[in-house]
Amino acid sequence: MTIATTFPLSFDVTPSTAQRATAERDAILADPGFGKHFTDHMVSITWTIDGGWHDAEVLPYGPLSLDPAASVLHYAQEIFEGLKAYRHADGSIWSFRPEANSRRLRRSATRLALPHLAEEDFVESLRQLIAADGSWVPSAPETSLYLRPFMIATESFLGVRAAQKVGYHVIASPAGAYFASGVTPVSIWLSTNYSRAGKGGTGAAKTGGNYASSLLPQQEAADHGCAQVLFLDSVEGVYLEELGGMNVVLVYKDGTLVTPESDSILEGITRDSILQLAEDRGHKVERRRVRLDEWVDGVASGDITEVFACGTAAVVTPIGRLIGEGIDVGSADATAGELTMSLREELTGMQYGRVPDRHGWMTRLDR
Ligand code: PLP
Ligand code: COI
Repeated sequence: MTIATTFPLSFDVTPSTAQRATAERDAILADPGFGKHFTDHMVSITWTIDGGWHDAEVLPYGPLSLDPAASVLHYAQEIFEGLKAYRHADGSIWSFRPEANSRRLRRSATRLALPHLAEEDFVESLRQLIAADGSWVPSAPETSLYLRPFMIATESFLGVRAAQKVGYHVIASPAGAYFASGVTPVSIWLSTNYSRAGKGGTGAAKTGGNYASSLLPQQEAADHGCAQVLFLDSVEGVYLEELGGMNVVLVYKDGTLVTPESDSILEGITRDSILQLAEDRGHKVERRRVRLDEWVDGVASGDITEVFACGTAAVVTPIGRLIGEGIDVGSADATAGELTMSLREELTGMQYGRVPDRHGWMTRLDR
């Protein structure tokens, strides 16, 4: 391999000699679950402080070879993204707002002292993987191919500073519903002992450490029969932030949608899109600090009529109940909110090509 930074990057392709047979792939696509199966190829690009981005490749999916001193393993210098490839009725393959994921990857890179990957190279890395593994994009309703780009510090050096060698990869995993229960209302556990992110920390970046710190409270959530954990702000412990892996939106009976604003939560692309669709319909949208009391009191008084979680993996999932120490709001067998489901339908309609893409959010990947 030659080290040469070109823009845009050009990719070498090494086809896998162990591609799954059609029958095996079809069996996986018939019941993909979430994050359990991976396609036949992956993307790999290397960055060095002297050579910039180079050695862009599509290669057979398989283990990465890392030096045990690679700084990602010690200091968690890593970032990732999550987006989906959708198959339309005519067989074409599309992604939703990939330039927004690319921008967020660069924002995360800035916070984690990692290099920026140009938008053109980011989108091309997705196209390259789809060129190799397009047959892995399922076509059943509500299924997709989840794309997971990530960047890791690969330099072997135990001193604590930004790595001078970095790997960017994209892997892909066929996906059905994130929650085993599908699109029925889920229960959420309010974590009062743990925060996800602190003031000035990495909460707004999509970086593994935020998820590592959510795992114990997420386990607590599961122990209480809940699908996700809700975090409050780490300073006063009274303002809503987000769930372990998705944003949260409250719907008032007058049709106003309210979502927490904070510099320590991940700015979700699904949330932004849903709120835009609601604004298009004439709904008022408020992005502001939201006290936990507002949720509890609003549900009790009937002012808040729906609450939902949203994110790439979860799409839009109704929240039926919130429980925590001394708190029990809503009901586990609540029915899904009408606005929640109709916004979900419109969003997925655009993603799957059933509804006109009036915002220019779709990018074709299979050419
Ligand atoms: N918040 C967290 C912590 C997430 O992991 C995600 C999922 O990516 C989101 C919010 C929603 O972001 P998006 O809609 O861009 O997937
Ligand atoms: C996503 O929605 O892409 C995420 O990264 C969240 C995780 C729950 C899978």
